[in-house]
Amino acid sequence: MGYTGPLFDKDRIFTNVYGFQSPDLKAAQARGDWDNTKALMAAGPDALIDIVKASGLRGRGGAGFPTGMKWSFMPKEPKPGKPNFLVINADESEPGSCKDREIIRHDPHKLIEGALIASFAMRARACYIYIRGEYIREAQALEKAIAEAYAAGLVGKNAAGSGYDFDIFCHRGAGAYICGEETAMLESLEGKQGRPRLKPPFPAGAGLYGCPTTVNNVESIAVVPTILRRGASWFAGFGREKNEGTKLFQISGHVEKPCVVEESMSISFRELIDRHCGGIRGGWDNLLAVIPGGSSVPLVPAAEIMDAPMDFDGLKAVGSGLGTAAVIVMDKSTDIVRAISRISYFYKHESCGQCTPCREGTGWMWRIMERLREGDGSPELIDKLYDVTKQVEGHTICALGDAAAWPIQGLIKHFRPELERRMTERNGGAMLEAAE
Ligand SMILES: Cc1cc2nc3c(=O)[nH]c(=O)nc-3n(C[C@H](O)[C@H](O)[C@H](O)COP(=O)(O)O)c2cc1C
Ligand code: SF4
Repeated sequence: MGYTGPLFDKDRIFTNVYGFQSPDLKAAQARGDWDNTKALMAAGPDALIDIVKASGLRGRGGAGFPTGMKWSFMPKEPKPGKPNFLVINADESEPGSCKDREIIRHDPHKLIEGALIASFAMRARACYIYIRGEYIREAQALEKAIAEAYAAGLVGKNAAGSGYDFDIFCHRGAGAYICGEETAMLESLEGKQGRPRLKPPFPAGAGLYGCPTTVNNVESIAVVPTILRRGASWFAGFGREKNEGTKLFQISGHVEKPCVVEESMSISFRELIDRHCGGIRGGWDNLLAVIPGGSSVPLVPAAEIMDAPMDFDGLKAVGSGLGTAAVIVMDKSTDIVRAISRISYFYKHESCGQCTPCREGTGWMWRIMERLREGDGSPELIDKLYDVTKQVEGHTICALGDAAAWPIQGLIKHFRPELERRMTERNGGAMLEAAE
């Protein structure tokens, strides 16, 4: 088992995540970015992929797929007329997630340098960064940084003196959560309505414009230059086996000081909150539940999360997931049914409507959640709702269907007595009224 925190300043990858220093090229170079990138690339594409594999890096966009392995699926010799592409997912629309934004506005050169190296490793000559429409200032910061990199010869022809020609573009979305799903993103980049594609074929076989494509999250790409500079074993030295590395956690809700912080993977929930957020509002006894990975993962009740390791396997073991590491903390003042109902409304609103279980199911689930919030219905309604979540889960083109089902399943699993209490309270009130 590797080191599980706390992370020391000397081991931070994102040294300007709070924007205390300038994001400009000169300041980024002073922090070590773009330091002899050419020498890093001299290792060659296959060796770079091997280093990323050895580092244990798993995708930071939610699903946690091993990054080096994903890169190795790309053709080593692109066919004529079928170039390889890298697409960087900066859509960041999952409620609770706000880490890619900090990278883009305060440390954009880490992302651009990572894009060059990752593209070179995958034999991609062009990279598109797809940024969510609402990130207006962030897109401006990114465009400025890309312009700086072009002007300094770090990207473009003979990028960073490496002999490799490479172009990078910032593409702004129009603000739809579904465009964060990788194949919907490709559709949107092609100028079409952002709707997920049926898989297979997977993007590495037929992605952007039918060409081999890898889609990676901003954080997954931005950590690569530091992994190469400090070594795969340095990165793999943090976190438990199969959960390696450092990670940007985004903690919101009922903590004393909400924040985005880079920590070692596998740090315990308790240490993460006490060390960086000043504890739970009202003390640890006041904690009700936590959604540990963004709105699409099931909630975990207080007693089960307190000492859980904050990593892929640790949160799976308590019936949830690390997702994007957007940790939403809820104290005992929270109306937990209302909170989950609000999340259901979000998924209903964001469904692209292609598949019937999701299009119809998300609306149905939200309407039932609203009834449960009011205590309307009988316990059989809870069973019926659970049954519908099971019919949506795993029966749709993309994972938005699962994302809509899981929070409700988590609520029923852990808070069924609260749902029934509301029914009793309401029915009791109705009976009293009838008796009067
Ligand atoms: C509905 C939906 C929304 C998603 N939104 C994002 C997002 O905003 N950012 C992101 O990186 N991944 C998002 N993903 C995951 C991507 O499809 C993809 O797995 C990810 O970008 C891969 O990058 P990684 O391997 O570096 O994690 C979303 C997936 C779904 C199903
Ligand atoms: S699951 Fe929902 S969002 Fe995904 S493709 Fe189907 S209808 Fe669209």
